[in-house]
Amino acid sequence: QDTSRPPLEYMKGIPLIKYFAEGLGPLQSFQAWPNDLLISTYPKSGTTWVSEILDLIYQGGDLEKCQRAPIFVRVPFLEFRVPGLPTGAELLEDTPAPRLIKTHLPLALLPPTLLDQKVKVVYVARNAKDVAVSYYHFYRMAKVHPDPGTWDSFLEKFMAGEVSYGSWYQHVQEWWELSHTHPVLYLFYEDIKQNPKREIQKILEFVGHSLPEETVDHIVQHTSFKEMKKNPMTNYSTIATKVMDHSISAFMRKGITGDWKSTFTVAQNERFEADYAAKMAGCHLHFRWE
Ligand code: PPS
Repeated sequence: QDTSRPPLEYMKGIPLIKYFAEGLGPLQSFQAWPNDLLISTYPKSGTTWVSEILDLIYQGGDLEKCQRAPIFVRVPFLEFRVPGLPTGAELLEDTPAPRLIKTHLPLALLPPTLLDQKVKVVYVARNAKDVAVSYYHFYRMAKVHPDPGTWDSFLEKFMAGEVSYGSWYQHVQEWWELSHTHPVLYLFYEDIKQNPKREIQKILEFVGHSLPEETVDHIVQHTSFKEMKKNPMTNYSTIATKVMDHSISAFMRKGITGDWKSTFTVAQNERFEADYAAKMAGCHLHFRWE
């Protein structure tokens, strides 16, 4: 039996990678520390990018220090749990304060300690069309996901929230709502792409660090798509091929805004937009599509 592509499992109505779903019970007793920082995103929205930026900020811009381990060790993935690999919670136990923590969990599944401890959150949102395309290619290469099927059928599943972590529409909206009552810096992938320096300055202010302008420029340079694609500590190339097969699609795939145009048909785009308007009605979030 091929256990490398198990079906998704529903938790409180939200589909998740089977192994992650199985660990969610014990994860509810996870203990956050007030000086933790949570990097929260719907998958494929710029998590790795902002993780590298934040680790560089925490290390005072020291590139050498950020070569100490792969990004998924430096910024442990809270709900990560795959047989034979250390879990996110285990990695966090070995991480000294102040910790950076990655999650994709919707609020209904988030361990309550993170909100109780008033842990600061950097949330990154990316436009839904580019996320859908990026997620499709990620499903193909990261084999803990079910087979994505055709692009057309995957897009239908994405719109219906029947992909791992559920509905993009709900995720971006509920974390936006949270930002009214909780310390959340809400960023957009497209803004970071357009003006990384400005967005890094926002992050610096939010986490209460200051760095010389020259160091900020170094961070901008080092976290460009081109640099992160060739850096083994950020490009996920150290993960076993049976878990992530970069020959199917690279983790660092294109790193652009508007790639959806090369994938969506006119008919798919029309259907997507009608559905989008219904699901996002009354929502004040505005995304850039190119
Ligand atoms: S994950 O698996 O959910 O944590 O993936 P995540 O890191 O959120 O998203 C992966 C996409 O982000 C792109 N990426 C970048 N874009 C621009 N600049 C930089 N530095 C960068 N780093 C990662 C990555 O290429 C994926 O997007 P696509 O569209 O597939 O290329």
